[in-house]
Amino acid sequence: MKIDIVTLFPEMCRAPLSESMMKRAQENAIVDLRIHNLRDWTQDRHRTVDDAPFGGGQGMVMKPEPIFAAVESLRSDHSKVILMTPQGKRFTQQIATELAQDRHLIVICGHYEGIDHRVVEHLVDLELSIGDYVLTNGAIAAVVVIDAVVRLLPGVLGDAQSAQDDSFSAGLLEGPQYTRPAEFRDWKVPDVLLSGNHAEIAAWRKEQGVKRTRENRPDLLEDKS
Ligand code: ADE
Repeated sequence: MKIDIVTLFPEMCRAPLSESMMKRAQENAIVDLRIHNLRDWTQDRHRTVDDAPFGGGQGMVMKPEPIFAAVESLRSDHSKVILMTPQGKRFTQQIATELAQDRHLIVICGHYEGIDHRVVEHLVDLELSIGDYVLTNGAIAAVVVIDAVVRLLPGVLGDAQSAQDDSFSAGLLEGPQYTRPAEFRDWKVPDVLLSGNHAEIAAWRKEQGVKRTRENRPDLLEDKS
């Protein structure tokens, strides 16, 4: 998969996408990731990317010209153009799974009060939000989406099963996990996990997943009914 990020803050994306699994995915040529500075597609001396909103109001709006120039120079026939914005569709594991099937993602990071709407109308295939809160810009949101997508690509996770066991993939949160020591500060690991009885362990994990989902994310259980 090829991924191009277009942002005003390349450094905000660089470090988190250069570590751990993201690093390995690039070294192993599973993903070809490039981070671009939107200002490289400006034409004026000041490298202007924003302007005041028509109709008045606070803040600045991102101009369309550099964004169109960036996407038009990066895209090919099979590119999907994504805009990171708090006005987007809420990003989920389901969307991550769908995006993992794409060959080329171009991820535009919004900034300021917004982005000229002609970008949304005539350039973007999908507007994505990572949640109901507002970040200073879309760079961190883009990193979140790319991390979630890249780890689903074949060969990135060591154990092919582990993506399927993820919270959300199964529609429930994962239950608790424990490791050694079996007793820490008087707190013992549940006996069933030490029993060696795989059927009982699986049943316990399922039950704990439901319990945790009911406590932390009852909306996931309601969605199923
Ligand atoms: N930019 C600012 N806030 C955002 C959010 N929640 N999701 C995506 N992009 C954003």
